[in-house]
Amino acid sequence: MEATASKEAKPESSGASTEVIVQTNNLSKTYRDFWGRSKVRALNSLDLEVRRGEIFGLLGPNGSGKSTTIKLLLGLLFPTSGQALVFGKEAGDVSKNEKIGYLPEESYLYKFLNAEETLDFYGRLFDMSAEQRKRRVAELISMVKLDWAKRRQLKEYSKGMTRRIGLAQALINDPELIVLDEPTTGLDPIGVREMKDLIIDLREQGKTVLMCSHLLADVQDVCDRIAILHQGELKEMGRVDQLLKVQDVTQIRANKLSREAEEEIRAVIERHGGDLVSMDNPTTTLEELFLSIVNESDERPGLSPASRAGKSSGASGSSGASDSAN
Ligand SMILES: Nc1ncnc2c1ncn2[C@@H]1O[C@H](COP(=O)(O)OP(=O)(O)OP(=O)(O)O)[C@@H](O)[C@H]1O
Ligand SMILES: [Mg+2]
Repeated sequence: MEATASKEAKPESSGASTEVIVQTNNLSKTYRDFWGRSKVRALNSLDLEVRRGEIFGLLGPNGSGKSTTIKLLLGLLFPTSGQALVFGKEAGDVSKNEKIGYLPEESYLYKFLNAEETLDFYGRLFDMSAEQRKRRVAELISMVKLDWAKRRQLKEYSKGMTRRIGLAQALINDPELIVLDEPTTGLDPIGVREMKDLIIDLREQGKTVLMCSHLLADVQDVCDRIAILHQGELKEMGRVDQLLKVQDVTQIRANKLSREAEEEIRAVIERHGGDLVSMDNPTTTLEELFLSIVNESDERPGLSPASRAGKSSGASGSSGASDSAN
């Protein structure tokens, strides 16, 4: 399998418009038991807005209300109070679902169908012609890289393969809004990177994506804006780049800086009354390192850790110094 190069997650202009696609006002959900007694307050007064063309991430620990929010938006659950609007329509109005693709947390696909039959089945549900279905099914299977397994029954699929066919199913009707509940669950690091690239591609096609995850790296890499939920309450919402910016620190990165140049930089910072926080070689992420090792191994089978050690460390191959100072 070939690891893909990671894509630019957040271009300067994400293409998001101000048109609101998803809106919740004071949305609350309390699950009740068989006797109608309040059991779990899963969501409390949520106010959210997702705009056309953005990738919006719902982030929160297990049980924080992410899946509940998604199910309320799809009309699969009724709110206890408050309102959810999608494309300006009440969430309970199922006609809006024609423009929505949904990848649920748990797969619900028929285990005895193969990938082609599965997608063809969903194409029929959307009244697509035989010709349209044939073209779309082939396109989606190739997009999620399942060509080699398209005739195998889904009961033989691994978790990662099941996630991929789930995404293809969610896209069958070429939806405007794609709702993904934990899209990277069960995927290996290559699959995670590919899934993230597919999500970014969707934004490039002008789609709006609402995804939820408790995996911080996934959300950081692809989302334009996020909302953080905890115990059913909204704790933070904003642009990922703004939320993560360390305001008081300036970072300078350079390639092959000499010792003298480093000394001069230190002196300049001191002269300006700054406080040098760090000046060292940057580390890469484990994801980048893993992908670069798999790529190299694909290109040169038999490469050992010893032969790698002679090469410069770091996935990007850069050996520059990083300087951080205020
Ligand atoms: N059908 C249900 N009946 C009763 N309580 C439920 C039901 N579904 C969810 N809950 C409760 O609602 C709360 C929120 O659950 P939800 O599935 O929305 O969380 P989540 O953020 O998606 O979590 P995870 O990361 O584990 O998927 C939890 O306390 C959960 O136990
Ligand atoms: Mg969930």
